[in-house]
Amino acid sequence: MTISQKRLLNVYQKRPVDRIPFWFMRQAGRYLPEYKALRATTKGFLDFCYTPGKASEATLQPIARFDMDGAIIFSDILVVPHALGAKVTFEEGRGPIVVPIRTQKELDTLSTNRFSAHLEPVYEALRITRKSLPDDKTLIGFCGAPWTLACYIIEGGSSRDFSMVKQTAVSDPVFFDRLMELLGRAVAAHAIRQIESGAEVIQIFDSWAGIVPDEYFDRWCIAPMKQIVQAIRAVHPEVPIIGFPRQCGERMQRYAQDTNINAINVDHSVSMEYVRHHIQPHCVAQGCLDPILLADDKEAMLAQAREILSTFDKPFVFNLSHGILPHTPIEHVQALCDVLKQA
Ligand code: CP3
Repeated sequence: MTISQKRLLNVYQKRPVDRIPFWFMRQAGRYLPEYKALRATTKGFLDFCYTPGKASEATLQPIARFDMDGAIIFSDILVVPHALGAKVTFEEGRGPIVVPIRTQKELDTLSTNRFSAHLEPVYEALRITRKSLPDDKTLIGFCGAPWTLACYIIEGGSSRDFSMVKQTAVSDPVFFDRLMELLGRAVAAHAIRQIESGAEVIQIFDSWAGIVPDEYFDRWCIAPMKQIVQAIRAVHPEVPIIGFPRQCGERMQRYAQDTNINAINVDHSVSMEYVRHHIQPHCVAQGCLDPILLADDKEAMLAQAREILSTFDKPFVFNLSHGILPHTPIEHVQALCDVLKQA
């Protein structure tokens, strides 16, 4: 099968397709009983991510069940700081815990020396997955953006408002810029290695873009992303890059234009009309079904799915406005996929 039969890749590269392709952020994970069974075979979440056979199997589970057009490699955004030497653990029910890095001295403990070797299991998982993935499916690699990684690194894990990150960034800009610069280089290197291991598209998650004060949005979100895009393009100009500046509102247009990305995952921090008029002329749009409706209200979810399909001009990729929630019923996801395949 030639590359032109990959519906999802075709859309990102602006070639015509027979129907709107779809995949879902966090499509592998705890809402799937087969994931929970596989996950139970390894204690630590990161150990699970670094076991190529299991990471590959988790990647393929949602495809086997729902036949999405894209498979996103099973991993996590926090493998990048972990590979730089940060201490990262995941605790059941608590999410990620990072030994925080808040000073130059702490930053000096990080190093790129073992970076690629540490992440080799992720690259092996991509190679294995690419071999067994049906030819019409597109394999998606991903990274976290520097700002979102800095949020977890400085805060020491998840946080209600990430106030410490903002305070550190403003009060110690020399330290913060060095941290962001290191993360930017590491993210670009990880994306490039993922491409060389079989990823055909890269999505960069900036999950906390929405909390960045307006006056810093260019410096903390747009500029680092622009550099990452340039670094990837210098080596792999043909590989589409999707940005996801979550909840960033009307700053989305500037993000889409100034970073030079190929596609952007949109959400409900802007209206669908805004996306039609301000995003679609510049860049492929992807989104934006509310994962809360997907989990909790099947009829409202199907109505929103139909509205999304009828609102957006092609090229468009159907996805969510954030990841699938763990309590989402399988039957809701199945009903959505049935609608999308007939669209
Ligand atoms: O299917 C896929 O989309 C691929 C797998 C994937 C995971 N994390 C697996 C995971 C992806 C793309 C991510 C990205 C990720 N990780 C983001 C960006 C997207 C977003 O949701 O905003 C962020 C912020 C993280 C960091 C992270 N990892 C958090 C905050 C948590 C805890 C919250 C939670 O959902 O439990 C994780 C853990 C994690 N990453 C799990 C999974 C399946 C749950 C842990 C487990 O299964 O044991």
